[in-house]
Amino acid sequence: MVESSMQTEGCPRCENTGWELVKEDGKEFVRRCACAEGKRRENLLEKAGVPARYRTCSLDGFELWNADDPTLNRALKKVRTFVDEWPQIDKGLLLMGPVGTGKTHLAVAALQELVIGKGVRARFQDFTSLVLEIQMTFDKPGSQRELMKPLVDAQLLVLDELGAGKVTPWVMDLLYYLVNSRYVQGRVTIFTTNYSDFAGSSQETLGDRVSARIRSRLFEMCRRIELRGADYRKQRLAHEQERRGP
Ligand SMILES: Nc1ncnc2c1ncn2[C@@H]1O[C@H](COP(=O)(O)OP(=O)(O)OP(=O)(O)O)[C@@H](O)[C@H]1O
Ligand SMILES: [Mg+2]
Ligand SMILES: [Zn+2]
Repeated sequence: MVESSMQTEGCPRCENTGWELVKEDGKEFVRRCACAEGKRRENLLEKAGVPARYRTCSLDGFELWNADDPTLNRALKKVRTFVDEWPQIDKGLLLMGPVGTGKTHLAVAALQELVIGKGVRARFQDFTSLVLEIQMTFDKPGSQRELMKPLVDAQLLVLDELGAGKVTPWVMDLLYYLVNSRYVQGRVTIFTTNYSDFAGSSQETLGDRVSARIRSRLFEMCRRIELRGADYRKQRLAHEQERRGP
């Protein structure tokens, strides 16, 4: 395959990272290497399906903005270890926590760093749009498989907002097919979800949302990362208002 022959040849300027170290006028900096591997990775990133608003997310850009919240630092460290250790990893990640705590940011940052840094074939998929797309194939047998194939086959899948929206038993079966296919093939997946395992009596748990058999596989396939802090979006808004004054 073209993919593997490019990888084995190796670029002398960038060692296949797609980034070369340049020294000019006594200054050192990195820039995009003109080699094929760099282009291939850019292309992979293009095809990964990361929404525009998250394209700038990086691990270095993840701020430990709330000193009272130890889960921020813990989460960042675990995600960084995940990226550093790839491909020597046995588990994906399950990022759990309330709205605006940075789950999607961390998941996308990991995906982008793995695509650009290590040439991983990755896919980003928002759960709610997947459910909608599945529902649109209801009367077209065979097209569900087509829809699922790239998600089943991706080396790394980010499934964002797991459990959100309204899910019918039929859609749940297809979701089970996706999760289980990746599970049996030992494929690595990053899930994010607003649902927790210990919801209050009035709230639904992750198990309620995605069924006990999917939940049980998630926990076996993934290292759990809990974000418990406050909403970054709200905090940023408050800051901006403060700056503008009354
Ligand atoms: N610690 C952080 N440092 C920098 N930016 C952050 C941080 N946490 C969140 N953000 C930014 O705030 C916005 C909201 O974060 P994000 O979408 O990752 O939250 P989420 O946990 O996925 O929320 P939701 O449950 O609503 O999907 C994004 O633009 C993200 O880049
Ligand atoms: Mg999110
Ligand atoms: Zn190169």
